[in-house]
Amino acid sequence: MGDRIRVMLTEQEVDNRIREIAEEINRDYQGKEIHMVCVLKGGAFFMCELAKRITVPVSLDFMSVSSYGNSTKSSGAVRIVKDLDEPLEGKDVLVVEDIVDSGRTLSYLLEMMWDRHPNSVHLCTLLDKPERRVRDVKVDYCCFQIPDEFVVGYGLDYAQKYRNLPYIGVVETDSKGD
Ligand code: IMP
Ligand code: MG
Repeated sequence: MGDRIRVMLTEQEVDNRIREIAEEINRDYQGKEIHMVCVLKGGAFFMCELAKRITVPVSLDFMSVSSYGNSTKSSGAVRIVKDLDEPLEGKDVLVVEDIVDSGRTLSYLLEMMWDRHPNSVHLCTLLDKPERRVRDVKVDYCCFQIPDEFVVGYGLDYAQKYRNLPYIGVVETDSKGD
């Protein structure tokens, strides 16, 4: 019990970087509106912090997915637990994620979103673990590339715990989930 957490990125570092990424997004979307799609639950903390710093008009929507488990893991097919409330047609969609790991979830979701005829779809992630990639996913905005370590905080969990940590840390235990 009582896992040890080693800090990888401090609250200040994360905060500063979110500001920089928000400025980049504000420049890129000048004259447009952003329809932010958050993938629950992990993306929620990042989306809130990011959205507060966006100066172009923003609308928000949320979806929740769960993977089908090992048999279909290679396909990356996910079950939609909660679908979006709004249609995507004609919108400039910005998908906001906590982390891109193997890329399976995102490659599936991005394809599903394109089927709904948005004007554009871009991906913004707090963290990226490029070493773990199995599926090609184009990451348009990334706050931090990190090494292949299991991280928690800022929305990311270990067995549903630690999402509320205001920094990114590594859980130091004997057995780690995925
Ligand atoms: P994928 O492998 O890119 O499909 O990642 C799917 C999901 O795995 C992410 O959205 C996270 O919810 C979770 N995940 C991947 N790496 C980590 C990690 O280091 N900590 C916590 N969750 C993770
Ligand atoms: Mg996620």
